[in-house]
Amino acid sequence: MSRRVTVSAPANIAFVKYWGARDLERALPHHPSISMTLEVCRSVTTVELREDLARDEVWLAGAEGRLEAPGEAFAARVRRHLEAIRAWTGRKERFRVATRNTFPAAAGLASSASGFAALACAVSLCHPERTRGIWAGASDAPTAGELSVLARLSGSGSAARSVLGGYVEWPAEPGDEAPAAGLAPAAHWDLRCVIALLETGEKAVSSLEGHRRAPTSPHFARRLELVPGRLATVRQAIRDRDLSSLGPVLERDAIELHAIAMTSEPPIFYWRPGTLEVLAAVRDLRRGGIEAYSTMDAGANVHVICPPEDEPRVATALAAVPGVGGLIRDRVGDGPREEEANLLAGGAGR
Ligand code: PMV
Repeated sequence: MSRRVTVSAPANIAFVKYWGARDLERALPHHPSISMTLEVCRSVTTVELREDLARDEVWLAGAEGRLEAPGEAFAARVRRHLEAIRAWTGRKERFRVATRNTFPAAAGLASSASGFAALACAVSLCHPERTRGIWAGASDAPTAGELSVLARLSGSGSAARSVLGGYVEWPAEPGDEAPAAGLAPAAHWDLRCVIALLETGEKAVSSLEGHRRAPTSPHFARRLELVPGRLATVRQAIRDRDLSSLGPVLERDAIELHAIAMTSEPPIFYWRPGTLEVLAAVRDLRRGGIEAYSTMDAGANVHVICPPEDEPRVATALAAVPGVGGLIRDRVGDGPREEEANLLAGGAGR
């Protein structure tokens, strides 16, 4: 019976964003969001269930597999997530955890979705007997719905979507803990996501703080009116594999998130001059007949969604934009998977 599990879970990029929480403690949104699960940008996490530990151990798996002590804020957030999972499952065991990202750690990309989805999946697979708490009655592995709820207990709402592959909707029915659910598998529609890297540091204002401030923007109430129509268009466009319908909506939704951030009290400016340059380059690509649409999370980097045949030209164009420090060529993916690696095998580096 294995008590150590490694899982890799992907990041995701939302077409209709989660921005503004109606319950920040529980990371419950004001409205549904829809995303595409990525493949290349992943967090890999090994979890070892230990009955002899007084406290959870948290490590970063650094260069050549050496274990490094993470910053205190990161370790505290992982411990809080483990505590929340224990409270939910009614279990007591402590864990040793080691984690790393497949994408540049300081790339300013949101790694909380992939990181906490990987942690939730690995912890739940560490309980082979699954006889208590949410596993009561479960005959085999936990359901995707259970994993989605466990991932969200981290406080990262977008993590709720990263436990599933393909195209995913996270609903927002008032008063419940609705998990994310799949709209279509990755194989339904091969979309690419070229990420233009503009920012290589931690962002100045966390998305948690962004969610807190969002309702202070005068535009937030209007967004709540617009989102239902937008969700309907995005669902239909995914069903029909219709990028011409999807693209303008996902681009508008991202700009709106940033307009709300910029008009929150106090305002938050995530964009850099290079962000505007990339947005202009994407519009130029469209004028040249390339189907490419931009979107941004709570940061300066730009994700450009396009069909496979346009990806090489999109990558060439983005690489030439001043300020772009690198590209990640990603695509829609199948979601979390168990891995052979044992990140806890490396010795402690410091
Ligand atoms: O996952 P959180 O709670 O850190 O929120 C991030 C939300 C965005 O990435 C900005 C948008 C989204 O829906 O993914």
